[in-house]
Amino acid sequence: MERGNPWKQLPDGPLIAPSLLACDFARVGEQIDLLTAAGARLLHVDIMDGHFVPNLSMGPSFVRSVRRYTDLPLDVHLMLTDPATYIERFAEAGADSITFHVEAADDPHRLIGRLRELGLGAGVTLRPATGCEALADLTADVDLVLVMTVEPGYGGQEFMDNMLEKIVSVRGMLKGAQRVEVDGGINVRTARLCAARGADVFVAGTDILGSDDVAGAMGDLREAIAGAGAGG
Ligand code: DX5
Ligand code: ZN
Repeated sequence: MERGNPWKQLPDGPLIAPSLLACDFARVGEQIDLLTAAGARLLHVDIMDGHFVPNLSMGPSFVRSVRRYTDLPLDVHLMLTDPATYIERFAEAGADSITFHVEAADDPHRLIGRLRELGLGAGVTLRPATGCEALADLTADVDLVLVMTVEPGYGGQEFMDNMLEKIVSVRGMLKGAQRVEVDGGINVRTARLCAARGADVFVAGTDILGSDDVAGAMGDLREAIAGAGAGG
């Protein structure tokens, strides 16, 4: 795929974004091959600084290695206290789209403007406790809003059912091609619930890479989403 804003090139309708946080870091390439063979159209990359969230994950060098390894678009989720300082480095490393937390951005409009200047996809996200009003004057300028369905910081957590209403609210704030991404505790049950409320990009780590059958797990998720009437 030609580099640039992936949300302008990826098909409309539901997409599953496997989260590399759930990878066995000693076998990332092999697991990316499994995901690609299972029909993944993009990969979700969680960047944690041990400050904004109580965990450390990967940095620009990991993104650069994955970039060299695959052509799949990289959907980079920044869980950093100071996203502004790192946007260029992740862009240079090969990120295709960057999503940052509204709680961490002093000037979110300026950040979105820089992502546009870099030709990247732009997304904003919010912690479970943060209300949609925090997005009020931002939604017009982004490709997606990522609704966290767990407290950011770890994979393998339980889905928070009380986030389902927020998906409906966010969907209502967005226009046509803009996407609602959900992240955290996504599996067959929760993907169906999210799809029925307007989500169309589904991040899943443990459910896919924690399974012995990556292709089967992706197929089950697709079916669940289609079952919610959203197609797959
Ligand atoms: C959590 C991350 C998620 C996480 C999802 O802070 O943003 O992307 O990797 O993992 P699962 O699907 O295992 O909840
Ligand atoms: Zn994430």
